[in-house]
Amino acid sequence: MSVTLIVLFSTCLKETLANESEYLIVWWNVENLFDTVNDPRKNDDEYTPTGKREWTEQRLNKKFENLAHVIKDISKRNKKQFPDIMGFCEVENEPLLDQLYKKYIKAANHKIVYHESMDSRGIDVSFVYNSKTFRLINKKVIGVKIYDKPTRDILLGHFKDLKKGYDLYVFLNHWPSRIGGEEKTELKRISAAKSLRHAIDSLLKKNADADILLMGDFNDEPIDKSILTYLKSSGSRDYVKKGTKDIKPMKLEVTIKRFNPEVDSAKGIEKTYITEADPHERVLDVLNKIKWEQDGTLSYRKSCAHGVCGSDAMMINGENKLACVTLVKDIKSDKLFIEPLPGASVIKDLIVDMDPFWNKYKTVLPYLITDEPTPENERYQHPDDHLLIEESTKCILCGACSFSCPSTWSDSEYLGPAALLKAYRFIFDSRDQAADQRLKIIDNNKGLWKCYTIFNCVQACPKEIDITKHISALKRRVVEEQF
Ligand code: SF4
Ligand code: FES
Repeated sequence: MSVTLIVLFSTCLKETLANESEYLIVWWNVENLFDTVNDPRKNDDEYTPTGKREWTEQRLNKKFENLAHVIKDISKRNKKQFPDIMGFCEVENEPLLDQLYKKYIKAANHKIVYHESMDSRGIDVSFVYNSKTFRLINKKVIGVKIYDKPTRDILLGHFKDLKKGYDLYVFLNHWPSRIGGEEKTELKRISAAKSLRHAIDSLLKKNADADILLMGDFNDEPIDKSILTYLKSSGSRDYVKKGTKDIKPMKLEVTIKRFNPEVDSAKGIEKTYITEADPHERVLDVLNKIKWEQDGTLSYRKSCAHGVCGSDAMMINGENKLACVTLVKDIKSDKLFIEPLPGASVIKDLIVDMDPFWNKYKTVLPYLITDEPTPENERYQHPDDHLLIEESTKCILCGACSFSCPSTWSDSEYLGPAALLKAYRFIFDSRDQAADQRLKIIDNNKGLWKCYTIFNCVQACPKEIDITKHISALKRRVVEEQF
């Protein structure tokens, strides 16, 4: 069950509304919330007691309990009764939500807005809202046309705040998935983006100041074509309202530090390329364009192109960044200077030798160590325990932090921030039993005590992990264990 509790993408929420009223609005893809009955109109056979998933009442009740636990916990953490509006994706029918809220959450005042679409599996989006905070003025369904089988519609809820009388328009999305390949399925999400943009434009035509919130599972990233080009998002409210028509490609002067071990001296050379880029393209797109159109000998690492694999960390205008998540417009210059990660030995051009980095990583035993028997399913962890390690689990091992650290530059044996963060991730994991072993490995002047809290690592981390805070927690732990 994926637990993603974020409003993925929000636009146009007026300052006044945001400042004067505080709402708790949450979206959650609850992943296959099916009842146990075979509905002949839907492709839900696997979610029955005799189906592939052996989906029994007992298992459904367990899922309800888990969902209720998380929703209650969100409310507790936000000092609220329950979310004022909660959007759900992947729900088979309205009675399921009714049962969840009445029997398991025991929330009074909550009303459901459900829409049954033509999706072949029969999983849909729905809102549950607090009728003491909002009144539903209208619900509208926005169809998404795709070329093969029908997909989920987009649901628009027009709510009125009962205290201040503000109108809030919430679009709830569950765009077509990437099953079958990201590229092959991209057109389906582009179609959803077009439908959504059209609905937003119609709304803005009637009310240019409408407060609009977009949320849901887009199955694309904010930097993908569907979101950037077709939904016309830039993260800026003005831009979303205006659209892309005024955006012109920029002329860029890109200087790249090159090194070819077969011909260049150890210092390498600098080579400048003139190219054009849309401000919403990424530095990785710029590098690709140079490689594909001007100089095929240019070498750099990349893989996922979505800030997940950590392959393309490099120095861009003096800062360690991931090329695939750095937008040209955010460089705030028409000159780009791209170098390999500093302090690393260069293999070719922007490709550095990561072996020392991985060797240090291995030193801290970066895996779960426990004598507990292997459970049948997952190793469960209480949400409070998980919270302690959650930030540290977001590391994608790109190395931007370690290669930005003066202690790493001056002492090649220093473990570095990434390895120490990984040590933290397991030392503070309630399911792990090898904390003492790891603390011994890092409690020395090639480990923890070589960190002088310079904070370069925090600034460099593309995942915005406060690495120094985690290293300080490790230092405290070492001291506490001694006294
Ligand atoms: S902590 Fe951040 S910068 Fe360091 S390796 Fe992990 S993701 Fe990269
Ligand atoms: S290419 Fe995977 S993180 Fe950038």
